[in-house]
Amino acid sequence: MHDGRSPWRPVTAAYNGPTVRALFPGSFDPVTTGHLDVIVRGAPLFEELWIGVGRNSAKQPLFSVEERLELLAAVVAAAGVRARVVAFTGLVVEFARAQGIGCLLRGLRGGGDLDYELPMAQLNRRLEPRVETLFLAPAPEHACVSARWVRDVGRHGGNLTGLVPDCIRAAVERRLREGADRD
Ligand code: PNS
Repeated sequence: MHDGRSPWRPVTAAYNGPTVRALFPGSFDPVTTGHLDVIVRGAPLFEELWIGVGRNSAKQPLFSVEERLELLAAVVAAAGVRARVVAFTGLVVEFARAQGIGCLLRGLRGGGDLDYELPMAQLNRRLEPRVETLFLAPAPEHACVSARWVRDVGRHGGNLTGLVPDCIRAAVERRLREGADRD
């Protein structure tokens, strides 16, 4: 029982009070319907949800940071979600600490994601124990959706209906076809 005098506090409370500001970090190269699912369902859980376009040093991005921010902004506006789209550089936990963000939000589709996400969450926790990572399971229809497959389908001229949000589908298909022509 917490008596108000005990030194014990949940980690986020020791830092920032109950988590009011969360960050969904990612490459968003480009934003998919799976990402949108996490954004739409995650936004009401927090007072503020920030969506952060970061740099994954293991990936060479196809869309520039500016393009990804534009696509995300269009998707968030069309969905009517209360969320803020930002770019960040450096470590995600450093950015979170600087912005008073107590929670990182990520989607978890299955075992493959778990193998990737768990060490990342544990590393982030080691770097900054006051920032928690929370996972949302995606709606089943998004379980097969990834930005990597979106890029592959789009480069081959495939239809991206249901893989990227409708409001950006034409722009993403065009951009991927142009990219494929240059390859
Ligand atoms: O969509 P992604 O590519 O899985 O997102 C990965 C991302 C951008 C969230 C991750 O690579 C990241 O946080 N990069 C910033 C640098 C960092 O903090 N690295 C340590 C944790 S992996």
